[in-house]
Amino acid sequence: MRYITDIQDIAEQGFSQPYRCLVDDEEYFVKGLRSTRISQINEWLCGNMAQAVGLPIAPFCLLQVTEEMIELLPTPKRNIGKGAVFASRSQAHCVLLEMAHIEKITFKQQIQLVAFDWFIQNMDRTQGNTNLLFQPHTQKMIVIDHNLAFDNEFQAAQFCQLHIFQAAAQKLANDFVYQQHMEQFLQPAITAYYHAKSQIPPEWHYKNEELDLPTHYPYHKIEQQIYHLQHGTLWSS
Ligand SMILES: Nc1ncnc2c1ncn2[C@@H]1O[C@H](COP(=O)(O)OP(=O)(O)O)[C@@H](O)[C@H]1O
Ligand SMILES: [Mg+2]
Repeated sequence: MRYITDIQDIAEQGFSQPYRCLVDDEEYFVKGLRSTRISQINEWLCGNMAQAVGLPIAPFCLLQVTEEMIELLPTPKRNIGKGAVFASRSQAHCVLLEMAHIEKITFKQQIQLVAFDWFIQNMDRTQGNTNLLFQPHTQKMIVIDHNLAFDNEFQAAQFCQLHIFQAAAQKLANDFVYQQHMEQFLQPAITAYYHAKSQIPPEWHYKNEELDLPTHYPYHKIEQQIYHLQHGTLWSS
């Protein structure tokens, strides 16, 4: 297990505002206790599933914050919490992906990302807030941020209308052949989910550092989506 060596600041963009942290000279965007346990578990489970299906997600890992480090921190930084945190490796020379970049992304990659977001019920990849990075020198997109997956407010029509890859979303919603291809594409997520679930750090099962308030993460929602994927009902669900 690797330890955070310095906490620099809190990212300005985004709702859960990850901390920019260092492990020696490597920079990470880190979601700790402040981002909520459900956010951390979402990042970990969805990150592993995204990686397994081959989406270009920013490399990620679990890092540790020691008790000694917490004691030395001023209050806002202290809220990162001790123990395991979710860390996304900082991608250099990137901009946030915007509408103008869409033509650079192949339709195949667009529809794969839409299929994945549908599977994880993620409405947090919209035109105003893409949660995608774009690397100008490689012309590639990089996927980040799954903390709002398995959204209670998930609505199919809204998802298709607001997704950054709206045209791909419409295609997927209406084309049986694409749906079948995407079912195949998503298969590796199933094994990845069960493996990642078994690797969740023990303290994440509690909302607080005293470890007496259970997190109640909604695993049944993922397992229901897996059931739909296995029974050919993912797109109609
Ligand atoms: N791996 C990364 N590389 C570069 N920038 C990142 C990375 N992860 C996050 N960021 C930056 O931090 C911002 C907030 O991160 P995000 O995961 O979207 O958190 P939130 O849940 O707060 O929206 C992103 O919009 C992006 O600017
Ligand atoms: Mg975000």
